[in-house]
Amino acid sequence: MEEIANPKLYLERMSKPLQEKLKIARFIPQDTRSILDVGCADGTVTLALADMYPTISFVGIDLDEEFVKKAQECVGERKNVKFECGFLRERLVNPERFDVALFCSVLHEFFSYGEGISTVVKALADAHEILNPQGTLIIRDMILYDYAGKSQLWVKEMKEKVKAKAEIAPLLADFENIFGVMNSVKQLNHFLLKYMYDDNWEREGKENYVPVSFEEYDQIFRLLGMSVLFQRSSTIPYLKNKWKDDFGFSDGELESFRSTGIIVARK
Ligand SMILES: C[S@@+](CC[C@H](N)C(=O)[O-])C[C@H]1O[C@@H](n2cnc3c(N)ncnc32)[C@H](O)[C@@H]1O
Repeated sequence: MEEIANPKLYLERMSKPLQEKLKIARFIPQDTRSILDVGCADGTVTLALADMYPTISFVGIDLDEEFVKKAQECVGERKNVKFECGFLRERLVNPERFDVALFCSVLHEFFSYGEGISTVVKALADAHEILNPQGTLIIRDMILYDYAGKSQLWVKEMKEKVKAKAEIAPLLADFENIFGVMNSVKQLNHFLLKYMYDDNWEREGKENYVPVSFEEYDQIFRLLGMSVLFQRSSTIPYLKNKWKDDFGFSDGELESFRSTGIIVARK
């Protein structure tokens, strides 16, 4: 995995939208007794959920030893949460199963640092296997519809507004080298989700933030025999306002731009 230049900054950024991320709590079924948080990093989200639901036991897993150590140090007196380092797949040999598997802002990293779509498919198949019967899978990530990938003439005008910013133009050029000429909402939307991470561009620039569309997730869940209960894409108001301030975009121009997708599926 690409080294994180500044882990402290990375973790701070990730925990900033905590209240936004905690909206996933609405999708935890009432009778839930156990939750596996896959890719928990320093446990910020896991610990906040564990405090909201003291009767549910939480296990957070991550590949990054330092993050997991940090999470373990934050457990304190809590009895309902533990953190472990390792792959989701390694847990399948244990008999332990969960009522909910959570993937919060992680599947794009599985895609980018693993083997692309096959890593995502394997992760969701593993999650399916580690869930109890009727178990629930919750995904929160940056997800767009296939339609966003269609080339659109008017995206060119929006791209010119981005290019006009001298400090952003080099990032845009680098982005186009990696992901191709920007001619669709998907590409511009993708860029708008990451241009602010210029101090960690070496890592963030290359990551594919929007690798799997809602339609592709639908296909995966169909194969796994899971029912999709909920699907939604939205835009965090702070981000939309930032895009307007930084580039002078209008509400109309930004109408189909999104920051967040949520999918809830049941086994
Ligand atoms: C963007 S962070 C999200 C952290 C946390 N879920 C949150 O929303 O604040 C992504 C995390 O996924 C972890 N990760 C990436 N690939 C992983 C994998 N294959 N298995 C477990 N964790 C992984 C990274 O180490 C990182 O801590």
